[in-house]
Amino acid sequence: MSSNLSQAKTRENLMSALAGEALSCTRYKLAEKVCRQKQLFVLANLFKFTAAQERVHAEVFYKHLKQCGCEPVSIRADFPNECSEEPLDLLRHAAETENHESSEVYPAFAQSARDEGFPDIAQDFENIASVESSHGRRYRHYADLLENGRLHTCESAEDWLCLNCGYLHSGSSAPETCPVCAQPQGWYVRLCETPWGLEPKC
Ligand SMILES: [Fe+2]
Ligand SMILES: [Fe+2]
Repeated sequence: MSSNLSQAKTRENLMSALAGEALSCTRYKLAEKVCRQKQLFVLANLFKFTAAQERVHAEVFYKHLKQCGCEPVSIRADFPNECSEEPLDLLRHAAETENHESSEVYPAFAQSARDEGFPDIAQDFENIASVESSHGRRYRHYADLLENGRLHTCESAEDWLCLNCGYLHSGSSAPETCPVCAQPQGWYVRLCETPWGLEPKC
């Protein structure tokens, strides 16, 4: 067991994770731009929201790496290289990448960190793996909605929120055009799927 992070495999894993998180953040910002251009503002917001979380993950790994000084770290790692500009492809690919991180990469990094005597770092890998798993589920859910033409329609009445102006609409579909801000349907999201959940009743 090594307690010297500078000499440990975990140092390389932290750099690989930092690079992966930074790449995810950038790719999601690019995906946000694509979705915005296609007027799918709810998906643009989903990518933007997730990109900000990936940046925080990068900061967590960076904080650990800082402990071992500024020497360059050599890594050998495979990174995803999706180049489609179709929102559905972007969602599906993001879901796959998140799934790979959460089920394979970070559990292995956590085990290695534990074996090398860095339980705090192992815990961070495990906690962030659980976040990536939820990212994967969220991207899959929205990919399914988009593929099935359900992004803005549902079986029974639901509450819909305009992410641009905050207007709430109840019905089996979001309005074609927002009655308040006149923006297109692409701004609408199911209220229950916003980060703040249901409206308070009082
Ligand atoms: Fe992440
Ligand atoms: Fe993620």
